Amino acid sequence: MNTLKCSRICITKCFCSSGAILTQHVKVVAQVPLSQPKWFNGFADTTIKRYINNSTGSDDPKLQIDHSPHFRETRPKTKKTNETTTTPETEGLSTIETALSEDAAEGRGMFEGGYRLPHPIWNEEELESVKITHQPPVTVVDKIAYYSVQTIRRGFDLFSGYTLGMYTGRLDEKQWLKRIIFLETIAGVPGMVGAMVRHLVSLRKLKRDHGWIHTLLEEAENERMHLMTALRVANPGIIMKACIMTAQGIFVSAFSLAYLISPRFCHRFVGYLEEEAVKTYTHCLKAIDNGELKMWKLMKAPEIAIEYWKLPPDAMMREVILVIRADEAHHRTVNHTLSSIKPDDQNPYPPGQ
Ligand SMILES: [Fe+2]
Ligand SMILES: [Fe+2]
Repeated sequence: MNTLKCSRICITKCFCSSGAILTQHVKVVAQVPLSQPKWFNGFADTTIKRYINNSTGSDDPKLQIDHSPHFRETRPKTKKTNETTTTPETEGLSTIETALSEDAAEGRGMFEGGYRLPHPIWNEEELESVKITHQPPVTVVDKIAYYSVQTIRRGFDLFSGYTLGMYTGRLDEKQWLKRIIFLETIAGVPGMVGAMVRHLVSLRKLKRDHGWIHTLLEEAENERMHLMTALRVANPGIIMKACIMTAQGIFVSAFSLAYLISPRFCHRFVGYLEEEAVKTYTHCLKAIDNGELKMWKLMKAPEIAIEYWKLPPDAMMREVILVIRADEAHHRTVNHTLSSIKPDDQNPYPPGQ
């Protein structure tokens, strides 16, 4: 009875699995007792014959099983190693240390053999020229978006202690990190939801996307990299994780519904959200420069950030905040633009720009 049960499982696997699984089970299938019904024995026999003939290169088209893999990118496997190069020529070269680190691997873009989507790489002039700007709301939709963001921001600032901390000048690195981590988990949502909705609309309505999806995905990944960078210098506790999960549940549902109803509102909402993000990171930079965040003034940039934003090997935490702020300013411009054009207009932003 056990043999019968096992054989049936194996035959099911033969139908839905590759030849590799069949190899592992072929002996068990052959153990089907002769007392089984004829259809059962014949069934197992044919399956085994098909596999054997296919493995041996049979020309009979009826006996061919397609073993070709699904589309798969061929990538040379790099040997994982923790060794560090210690020859006199390479000693002290942080780029080599960086190239060997897993942290750095996570920050590498697809053109360097990594997985990250293209994104702008800012020069020093661009980084320092970012300004706090505001696009005045014109339409009713703009006003709803603007006042929604203002209400959420003020409520969150009060609840999280940011308002009091800024007033007293007592916000330390730990409080800044808590704020950054929580907000970046939210900031990564709109791009992904927008891209998903547009992708589904394209499938459902059988029409093209006009190039918006890639920009929205790039924004989502860029925000997630802000989060990954912050996580290199902090480790959120269980309460924080619970807050993040709750907030994501609420925000994903609300934003998805809103995007289905009015993409124009959603992009304007994100545009105003990014205006606030630029303000926050500008305050953070001031706090570093004023000496309120002494630890960050002396802290080296995490490797993931050096790799992702192509920072110099000796970059400091201040430069990380500068590039994040430049990204936020870019999202601000992109989302205000996407809100101002029609959903069927061509996306004016090429990949990585
Ligand atoms: Fe961000
Ligand atoms: Fe952002």
